[in-house]
Amino acid sequence: MRKNIVAGNWKMNKTLQEGLELAKSLDQALAGKKLNCDVVICTPFIHLASVCQSVNTEVVGVGAENCADHTSGAYTGEISAPMVASTGAKYVILGHSERRAYYGETNEMLKTKTTLALASNLTPIFCIGEVLEERENGTFFEVVKTQLSEALFGFSAEEFAKIVIAYEPVWAIGTGKTASADQAQEIHAFIRKTIEENYGKEIADNTSILYGGSCNGSNAKELFANPDVDGGLIGGASLEVDKFMPIIEAF
Ligand code: 13P
Repeated sequence: MRKNIVAGNWKMNKTLQEGLELAKSLDQALAGKKLNCDVVICTPFIHLASVCQSVNTEVVGVGAENCADHTSGAYTGEISAPMVASTGAKYVILGHSERRAYYGETNEMLKTKTTLALASNLTPIFCIGEVLEERENGTFFEVVKTQLSEALFGFSAEEFAKIVIAYEPVWAIGTGKTASADQAQEIHAFIRKTIEENYGKEIADNTSILYGGSCNGSNAKELFANPDVDGGLIGGASLEVDKFMPIIEAF
């Protein structure tokens, strides 16, 4: 059966020293605890190698926030999936709305990135979600379906089974405005149904679908109580152990 996962996305926050301190404190806070979810932190690229060496990666999974759409070569400033994997990281966030909006990432490009991530044995945490206008005009079901089908539904069932989905409504990211538990369940159930139509019930039932967008210690319990919400992708509240722990413990 699918895993519950609480993953932090640090975005462009924390110097290396601050990041190491945060990762170690989280590792200590989790040590010996019996948890009902996997915990992951996705950090800036330059933190990855040191963070992987500083935590028990069996307790705190480590991931990148992006990877390149090429494996190697003359792509100045880019970081490839094999490079990410070589640090000891096991996850990579792909298709975050900030990457789509500010860096022009398309579904086609994300399909390539996902292919390369899987080839390096990284688990993609693949983000989808609509903007406010699409929520308000009711096209959000179509929007997430298109994101899924254009970027991911070309993969074989065996490949797709390795991907974690994160539904992040763009209007809820960093705004303090969370989707209600009912809104989250409605769209998560739709995402699972869409996966089922393409890959069958077993794969759909085994796919972890995380919610992201202003998730915090006060709303996590209600969101995670939904049958189709299998955890969270957490931005701001993952930057302090005291704020992240209550979300982890909401399971
Ligand atoms: P916030 O939790 O800060 O709203 O960010 C969510 C997010 O974008 C995680 O990827």
